[in-house]
Amino acid sequence: MNSPPNSVLEKIRTAASATTPEALASDESFWAVVRAEFARPEDFIHLEYGFYHPACHAVIAAEIATITEAQRRGSHYKRHEMTAEREAARTDLARLAGASPEEVILTRNTTEAFNIILRGLPLARGDEIIHSDLDYGGVVEALEQRAQRDGVVLRPVSLPPEPSTDAEVIARFTAAITPRTRAILITHLINHACLARDLLSSFVG
Ligand SMILES: Cc1ncc(COP(=O)(O)O)c(C=O)c1O
Repeated sequence: MNSPPNSVLEKIRTAASATTPEALASDESFWAVVRAEFARPEDFIHLEYGFYHPACHAVIAAEIATITEAQRRGSHYKRHEMTAEREAARTDLARLAGASPEEVILTRNTTEAFNIILRGLPLARGDEIIHSDLDYGGVVEALEQRAQRDGVVLRPVSLPPEPSTDAEVIARFTAAITPRTRAILITHLINHACLARDLLSSFVG
């Protein structure tokens, strides 16, 4: 229906590919380009981009145009036209992720995606899920719901907020594994600590 805001992405991609992340971080002319793409409040500096991330002008314009067009074409759009658009988006996203389109599903957010996976796990009463005390609130609530409904047992491990090595984190998870362990939740990007660790590869080899 609408083409993606390629011009903004292209500008950022071109600038980013021409230099190193360190140099780009202090390149004020680059940040001026990025800044101009966002509507900013006048009375405070917006530092929280996790909870509710303001989109850039081009994305907002594309969203409004898409909603307007979908409303104009009504159920004809939903029944006939939307599928092809969704599949095209799925193919684009799969390419970005280095996956095949069949491996990608589109969900409204991370919480919904996590619930789909969690509720699809075949777990019996007494089966255990290991997670950490730094996991995201909405994710922990979904785990607690499965515990309440299905008698699944949660085994939260305490993680150091700023671990010095991956081994330190992996040791806490592995110490919690029992014969009843059926799933381990490993958050790649921990929001409390701004911690990103590729722990999954350490577990699966
Ligand atoms: C680690 C983590 N998991 C899950 C979520 C939930 O994401 P969403 O708002 O897309 O459902 C967040 C949101 O910030 C998060 O930081």
